[in-house]
Amino acid sequence: MNGRTALLAEAELFIRKCYAELERTGEEADRRIGEIAREIEESGTYVHTYEELRHGARMAWRSSNRCIGRLPWDSLHVIDRRKLSSEEEIAQALIEHLDYATNRGKIRPTITIFKPDHGERPGVRLWNEQLIRYAGYESENGGRIGDPASLEFTRVCERLGWSGARTDFDVLPLVVQLDDGAPKWFELPQEKVLEVEIRHPDIPGFEQLGLKWYAVPAVSGMRLEIGGLSYGGAPFNGWYMGTEIGARNFADEGRYNKLPAVADLMGLDRSRRSTLWQDRALVELNVAVLESYRSAGVSMIDHHTAAAQFETFEKREREAGRAVTGNWAWLIPPMSPATTHVFHKRYDNSIEKPNFFYGKKPYSARMQEPGASDRSSGCPVSRPSGGCPITGAGGTGFRV
Ligand code: ARG
Repeated sequence: MNGRTALLAEAELFIRKCYAELERTGEEADRRIGEIAREIEESGTYVHTYEELRHGARMAWRSSNRCIGRLPWDSLHVIDRRKLSSEEEIAQALIEHLDYATNRGKIRPTITIFKPDHGERPGVRLWNEQLIRYAGYESENGGRIGDPASLEFTRVCERLGWSGARTDFDVLPLVVQLDDGAPKWFELPQEKVLEVEIRHPDIPGFEQLGLKWYAVPAVSGMRLEIGGLSYGGAPFNGWYMGTEIGARNFADEGRYNKLPAVADLMGLDRSRRSTLWQDRALVELNVAVLESYRSAGVSMIDHHTAAAQFETFEKREREAGRAVTGNWAWLIPPMSPATTHVFHKRYDNSIEKPNFFYGKKPYSARMQEPGASDRSSGCPVSRPSGGCPITGAGGTGFRV
């Protein structure tokens, strides 16, 4: 099968499914497929209507096997930016995405879609894993500042000419690459980045840990595939589930590693693991995260409510005659997993399309300091289960 035949076949599959879901007639789908066939014949590719783009993006969310927050998939706000043709315009659109999505704390699930790739040639690549992320630095003597998950990308940004203030929470610049051109970086204006300072409702002095996190998790390092077209630049966001921050970003030894400091604040005995000081600190750290977002008026869901909503999603999908796919190792929350129904059942990790996929990292090891190690495991969703998150390729499907 050549590229055009394959593209048409993918397009046809998508149009039939999409139009059926949108309650369009079979004739409408046939007509549209005929039109797409001619367009591919003439130009080698085709252009989605806004309606196709919007529903395709929503379907991709619905089929995101790692995501526990899929219940509102059908209300994803889809911003069409396929017409933009400069890095500056794209950076501006990313800032507008954040504005719309942040909504002064009442977060709106949003995706911005830039022009698709053309065959093997990339269209738009956002080098950031998320639109907002904190830089990470390692000093000569091994001391660490900021988020270790960002060490490699921070080095890349510095190579491009950016430099951060070297606090633990320096917001990284946006790095935009268009049509194989050189990447351009843009500072994200601090006033566009809503953040929440973390304090505990009843542990005095907690705020002295100096913790804060940003409001909007916006994954920008994945490509969106709809009907055979690949949108390399398609950043999307929802709101946070508390444990992503409280049980991973702040807690992992390879991230901010704050459990010992929290335990000390609480006066816990850290001389033996069996005092469960880690578990006790983890719970209070997560209480602090949830309470701080709540009192700041920033959308966030706890893992129990998220699991309950996921159960509603499963029920609705069943009612709509669709099979729910999911990746158990990712769906279970990293804290108290067995208290949720997700833990007690199995999920089919088949990959439906449309969907989001990880591609090759846009920057290469050549951009790193000589001798630096290649940390290719830096996954934006920060859940090390091994292998490709979506296809599962190379991974065991279990967290290691
Ligand atoms: N786990 C990632 C983080 O901690 C965010 C991934 C997307 N999360 C979401 N709730 N939409 O930054």
